[in-house]
Amino acid sequence: MNTNDKISRRDVLKCMGTAVISSAAASSGLFSLASCRENVKKRIILYFTGTGNCLYVARQLAKEGAELLSIPQLMKQKTFEIEADEIGLVYPIYGHMPPYMVRQFIQKAKLKAAYKFAILTYGARKCDAVEIWDGISRKAGNAFDYINTLVMVDNWLPNFDMNKQILIDKKIPENLQKITTDLTARKCWHEPVTEEEREMHRGFMAYTGLDPEIGFLMKSEKYFTVTDTCIGYGACVSVCPRGNYELTSQGVKMQGDCEFCFACIQNCPQKSIQFAKNETDPLLRRGEVNPNARYRNEHISLMDIKRANNQF
Ligand SMILES: Cc1cc2nc3c(=O)[nH]c(=O)nc-3n(C[C@H](O)[C@H](O)[C@H](O)COP(=O)(O)O)c2cc1C
Ligand code: SF4
Repeated sequence: MNTNDKISRRDVLKCMGTAVISSAAASSGLFSLASCRENVKKRIILYFTGTGNCLYVARQLAKEGAELLSIPQLMKQKTFEIEADEIGLVYPIYGHMPPYMVRQFIQKAKLKAAYKFAILTYGARKCDAVEIWDGISRKAGNAFDYINTLVMVDNWLPNFDMNKQILIDKKIPENLQKITTDLTARKCWHEPVTEEEREMHRGFMAYTGLDPEIGFLMKSEKYFTVTDTCIGYGACVSVCPRGNYELTSQGVKMQGDCEFCFACIQNCPQKSIQFAKNETDPLLRRGEVNPNARYRNEHISLMDIKRANNQF
């Protein structure tokens, strides 16, 4: 398959005839190619994940014959034309906005499907995330028929202790079931947003000074430090969707535009990556609530995150 061309059902079926699935496709999560059948309506689910919540949701929504495609891998391959009967997109909200890479992707993408849905995961406060996504995707010519949110573990380390977050029952199976029912019926619906939620988002933007056109695109070297407990295991190198980490003879080096997805921090088995506490930055004034607590969705392995995000 030419990775610069669109991915269509024909391409997928063609791939089944080949003995080798390209490593690019394998690493992007095209694990369900072999289960493609002619008689199944094809659903493609695109996802972005830092700590596995969105990958878990994408898998749960991938009915038989569906494919999962990682947005960082599609960006790496410059694959922007995607065609299926149904296209879904799952991403974590960052300050109620999409990750920068998801925004870049949707601006370049040509999504061709009879039904398009987006599920936005969050941890505590979604505000007007649905309207924000509707505005961005519509402007890009990729309007979605269904946009809903799903509350999950909040991986925002400055405010939350991961050990406490995992104990909260956020009714994920029940809420996922409702979404599944909606999608099966191809419901056309956007979760409503209140004026109070819009106002909260405006307050958040004023407080943080974030650019609404960019959101959480930071510099990793400014916000993170690698402590001397690092043993050079290298998980950070593989889980970063921006390829910001490098193992050198002097230890781990990191720099570059950063999605702030926390895949590096949360997936380091040594907990060697931490926030550089920054008194002048409203986001990082408090540093971390618990630098000893780290999170990855219980259904998702470190290898899954590496496959989703690896840029090498
Ligand atoms: C940079 C950043 C910003 C976040 N902003 C919000 C937010 O505004 N509201 C919220 O409820 N959760 C917020 N979260 C939590 C995530 O949206 C949530 O934990 C999500 O399910 C993580 O998905 P993932 O495991 O697929 O990365 C934020 C997390 C990060 C890392
Ligand atoms: S440096 Fe860390 S937080 Fe930034 S994009 Fe890479 S993995 Fe995500």
